[in-house]
Amino acid sequence: MARASTGPADGGTTRTREQWSGQTAFILAAVGSAIGLGNIWRFPGVAFDNGGGAFMIPYLVALLTAGIPILFLDYALGHRYRGSSPLTFRRIARWAEGLGWFQVGICFVIALYYTAVIAWAASYFVFSFDLGWGDDPTAFFTTDYLQVGDPGFSLDFVPGVLIPLVLVWVVTIAILAAGVAKGIERANVVFIPLLVATFTVLVVRALFLDGAADGLNALFTPDWGALGDPGVWIAAYGQIFFSLSIAFGIMITYASFRPRRANLTSPGLVVAFSNSSFEILAGIGVFATLGFLAAQEGVAVGDLEGLTGVGLSFMTFPAVISEMPGGQLFGALFFGTLVLAGLTSLLSILQVVSSGFQEKFGWSPRAAATGIGSVSAVVSIVLLGTTTGLIFLDTADNWANNIGIVGSAVAMTILLVWVLRKGPELRYHLNAVSTFRLGSWWYVCVGVLAPVVLGYMLIDRIVDLVQNGYGGYPTWYLLTVGWGAIAFMVVFAAVMSATRWRSDPDALEPWPPYPPASDTRAVKEAQR
Ligand code: ALA
Repeated sequence: MARASTGPADGGTTRTREQWSGQTAFILAAVGSAIGLGNIWRFPGVAFDNGGGAFMIPYLVALLTAGIPILFLDYALGHRYRGSSPLTFRRIARWAEGLGWFQVGICFVIALYYTAVIAWAASYFVFSFDLGWGDDPTAFFTTDYLQVGDPGFSLDFVPGVLIPLVLVWVVTIAILAAGVAKGIERANVVFIPLLVATFTVLVVRALFLDGAADGLNALFTPDWGALGDPGVWIAAYGQIFFSLSIAFGIMITYASFRPRRANLTSPGLVVAFSNSSFEILAGIGVFATLGFLAAQEGVAVGDLEGLTGVGLSFMTFPAVISEMPGGQLFGALFFGTLVLAGLTSLLSILQVVSSGFQEKFGWSPRAAATGIGSVSAVVSIVLLGTTTGLIFLDTADNWANNIGIVGSAVAMTILLVWVLRKGPELRYHLNAVSTFRLGSWWYVCVGVLAPVVLGYMLIDRIVDLVQNGYGGYPTWYLLTVGWGAIAFMVVFAAVMSATRWRSDPDALEPWPPYPPASDTRAVKEAQR
């Protein structure tokens, strides 16, 4: 067999590559990454806004044609080239390293605000016990809790946000510093079963609330006309990418910690279907609960305000919790679930940044986690712990997702399939190590469908943002925070690519060899 799975030949650095303790640990970590704020905080509102029950069609199409194929692509890359994104792309082509650092930049920007949402959820977990948001949860969230000011930058720190935000950073850095097996893996082994337990109780309770059926009807009644709207399809593809943690370095990095002989595609299917099941169940739980609120207020579910994103979790949900018998416990479970789902995803987001620096500069996990974590924490606290945090989050999130992740996916698929022509080798790799074998449909998805649909989506979003701006915020602010975040990712990628590697990144023989000298039948089969 080929070289051993550890040592310089495996990582191209002087450090032995870390590994998950086994397949279950990898699946748990990957599921932990995929199931995150996007499932609970974003999916129900996106589905409701984009055709309700009819949204399930574009959603499933997006999952099958782009989500799962690109998840496999990420796995193949990290596993074959034994690195996080920058090292992986550098090993494929020296000039492609920048795409890896661009993905690291996306993760850095997302981590800045992802921590803040977890911090708010931690505060609201505590508020749940005495319904601390009072009679007007909307005013409480924006005025009393976040003290939201005008778009801009301020150093008016909000103590109620600052304290949980610092705590979230400390916990995250401590887990990452302990390494992949002793830190991230152990955290997921504890957090994921807890998450499944709290979430199950939550959904079952929601289904027994008065009005739950009306909520489910509102979510699932199909608006077939929505299928003719390209915006609905764009929303479905956008949701899948963020939700599955693909095309921004996470799954590349996580797959790189698997041993050389490791099944990739079957665990990938487990991860993808677990994530989507959780997402759809979150939609059911959230809308059953909203049905209860609508019944209490004597209005239709569709007439309720604040059914998406931040408003849904931190304004509408507290209002429901206040009206519900046993609301305190329900609130604690809901916000506790958000914290757990968010933390396991945050670990994966920051591990991309940490691994990138470990590999480039030969840092230990501890040094990278504390160094990178501290810098990120300070930037996050300054930008999100102040009165302008909510507006920063809203803007940065929109650009990181719609331009950053989608742009990265387009660049990645075109580069790998059309420019570098790595499709057959990557498919051969996946089929050589996995039990679920990929047919040529995989090329069609990764090489044709994904770049066409995502390319259209990227252009559509850019034109829309340029013509219409976003959220009614001033142009200077969108240029600084939105487009500025993208400019940061590009400049960061250029600077990091120009920096010297501490040890030779090309010291790797990808395994299994391609084309395989002795296994012509296998390669023919893979190429068929
Ligand atoms: N996949 C993670 C989420 O859904 C990032 O939030």
